Amino acid sequence: MAVPFLDLKAQYLQIKDEVKPEIDDVLETCYYVLGPKVKNFEEKFAALCGVKHCVALSSGTAAVHGMIWAADIPAGSGMITPPNTFTATAEGIVFAGHVPVFVDADPVTWNLSPAKTEEFLAGCSSTGKPIDPKTGVEIKGIVGVDLYGQPADYKALQIIADKYGLHLFEDAAQSHDGSRFGQKTGSFGNAASFSFYPGKNMGAYGEGGAITTDSDEIAARMRTLRDHGSEEKYYYNFIGHNYRMSAFQGGVLGVKTKYIHEWNNNRIAAAARYDSLLAGLPVELPKVADDTRHVFHLYALHTPVRDKLREFLASKQIGAGLHYPEPLHTQKAYAYLGYSKGDFPVCEKNAYENMTLPMFPELVEEQQVEVAEAIKVFFEKG
Ligand SMILES: Cc1ncc(COP(=O)(O)O)c(C=O)c1O
Repeated sequence: MAVPFLDLKAQYLQIKDEVKPEIDDVLETCYYVLGPKVKNFEEKFAALCGVKHCVALSSGTAAVHGMIWAADIPAGSGMITPPNTFTATAEGIVFAGHVPVFVDADPVTWNLSPAKTEEFLAGCSSTGKPIDPKTGVEIKGIVGVDLYGQPADYKALQIIADKYGLHLFEDAAQSHDGSRFGQKTGSFGNAASFSFYPGKNMGAYGEGGAITTDSDEIAARMRTLRDHGSEEKYYYNFIGHNYRMSAFQGGVLGVKTKYIHEWNNNRIAAAARYDSLLAGLPVELPKVADDTRHVFHLYALHTPVRDKLREFLASKQIGAGLHYPEPLHTQKAYAYLGYSKGDFPVCEKNAYENMTLPMFPELVEEQQVEVAEAIKVFFEKG
């Protein structure tokens, strides 16, 4: 039996009867951009995250950029982030006029390590301000990433941010409806960014993103920036952008907000099933930190033979992914920052040994048994 990496159709069929009238409404009212559908979604999503504001945007990349941009930090500041993330995290920092400063991940959760962040900041603060030794810029922020759906340790990161006077942001593109220490993703730090790319836990039927925040200033600035810096048509307070969400996506996401918790419960159950089916095999399984709702956007395992294993699974028509095969600090695009291979051993191990198994809320036990049996056969063959 073939097992796909992702099955978007299975979810569409469940909510088809609710989504179609939303699409029809947009077509009938001709209110295609922002408008009541997007506003309704923003209210529901802010409530889901437990924050005052959600500002819907055109993509997750726009959201990473937007949350940092809207915080109005002096241009040319350093922003600490882990290099084992999707490029959009670092792109957002650069688009906002800043400089990515990479710090290694924690070897258990693969998220930005608070211990290494503290060690790095302590080591570069001899002048009283944290100065990145590579680029000479003053560090003014931290952008944590909830990799694979597991919220980073924002309690520890907030203590560090407060100690050094830094802004703290959360890239929650992969962790809708996750939580840590009883607090929802999207509610940590100064602001958070989400992606609603179709394959995400909460996916639009096209591109979409949002920022969430309790800050009235960040929310107000983001609303203006997403619409060319304009509060009144044809009058511009800032140089902004066109980061407005399509009303079709607002309608779809408004429906999906009702189901995300239940869908994530299915992912969590599927992850537990993989854990028991794969126990005892020579692979490193995902570990969940205490007091954490890891929403398993991806179920990533680690093995030094992952390329061969992935090839074997493909020959059995089992879809397995790579998230991500090369860390950012060794990519051409970031060569100007001056890092080298070997600088971040945990992120490098993450990149070169990870493999992600089929994972979606509608995944059934029979499919997971098929995946696990194939992995067993691979290791038995040697
Ligand atoms: C961690 C992370 N940040 C940002 C993004 C960017 O989101 P989008 O693809 O919606 O622009 C993604 C999506 O792939 C992501 O995984």
